[in-house]
Amino acid sequence: MNLLPVMKGLHSAEALNPAFLEAFFVRARQVENRPLEFSEALRGRVIATVFAEPSTRTRLSFESAAHRLGASVITVTDPKTSSGSKGETLADSIKVIGSYCDLIVLRHPQDGASRLAGLYAGVPVVNGGDGRLGHPTQTLVDLYTLYRKWGSFEGRTIAVMGDLRNGRTARSLAWGLALLGARILLLPGKGLDWEASFERRILDKFDYRLRWGKHPLFSVWTGSQEARILEPKGLVQKSLFREDPPEIDSLDALYLTRMQAERGAQVDPSSAYPGITLEHLKNPLMESCLLLHPLPRCAELPVEIDGDPRALYFEQASMGPIVRQVVFLAMLGEDQWSLPALAPLPAGNHEHHLGLCPNEGCITRMEGLQVPWRVIGVTRRSFLCSFCDSLLPVDYAGCRSTQRVHPVHSQAALRIAPENLRPFLRRDEATAAGYIWGT
Ligand code: CP
Repeated sequence: MNLLPVMKGLHSAEALNPAFLEAFFVRARQVENRPLEFSEALRGRVIATVFAEPSTRTRLSFESAAHRLGASVITVTDPKTSSGSKGETLADSIKVIGSYCDLIVLRHPQDGASRLAGLYAGVPVVNGGDGRLGHPTQTLVDLYTLYRKWGSFEGRTIAVMGDLRNGRTARSLAWGLALLGARILLLPGKGLDWEASFERRILDKFDYRLRWGKHPLFSVWTGSQEARILEPKGLVQKSLFREDPPEIDSLDALYLTRMQAERGAQVDPSSAYPGITLEHLKNPLMESCLLLHPLPRCAELPVEIDGDPRALYFEQASMGPIVRQVVFLAMLGEDQWSLPALAPLPAGNHEHHLGLCPNEGCITRMEGLQVPWRVIGVTRRSFLCSFCDSLLPVDYAGCRSTQRVHPVHSQAALRIAPENLRPFLRRDEATAAGYIWGT
């Protein structure tokens, strides 16, 4: 096996875990209530903020967080002013920047850029948003904002609406909510749903089930009165005798997102992009529904709503520096500030060439690399690009110790120990590599 080295830092909501989040919220409360206690915690440290895409909240709240902890900041805010514009690879740039600082915060348009940077930086890399893939510290902001209101996520229903296909905040948030056992109701705009493989990973990983619910307001938003709900299998439904699909009577929070036009998203000509109005807030469904939005906003969230007590999005944005101080403390702080470890994210295997990643937006395509892979699944094996999480079209799984090859979704493939797996796109590739067919 030829494993890539460990990716240091926080690249994905997949690295979060309940113990980390519980301790994170407690530490955020401390930072919020007693900020001066932390004002020298990172004195002498240097943070680099490297932003290859526009940002207001993420960059400035990370920089504010660094200053509030006594650290210094160096920055790239415009890719045209760095050597990336002369053709330097991200890997080379990051290797050099990592030698100038103690931690890098990276925003990048390519999916998986943070994970690639984590391999080369030599210092922790924190993902400030990479392509469509993830924005884990926005998720920490979102979750902490709700934690301050609710304390617990148990039994809560959070609807996520808008551009799920291209919205990295929606993807990361769904993962974080599943980690905390919340019910997630999905309201994608027409043609703007995420890929089924991502949702299947949530269902498998958290032992969640998929069911449907309905409400007339959903059809105003998305064109369909039915919505998918992801929820823990153990959750008891309120009544044994309900219509199918049942009418949803209340939402605890609605997470709105803007359409990601910069990633090619477009409104389907037969429908409008989902958004809310003051009139919608009068519906009983919304009676105690908190409104969140990662911002910036567009027409989906009109300014008339800002004065409503349920509108939480500016309070949410104001949590950015506090949450990002805790992220820095978790990565660089002395023992007294440390938090439970993040779950290791498998860096992947690049021994067997599976060609290019099928995702044209993957960082490996920009850097001219073959796709590195990782394997997931308890009841059925799947192979993913270990940088951008795209499902790879692997149809056969070989076992290095027996030199036999099996269909990837067979029971025989499931019995192969992960360290012995060798993926093949086609059966003739397996035969050419000396593998024999079957049992
Ligand atoms: N929420 C968020 O990521 O905002 P910015 O793009 O302004 O950083």
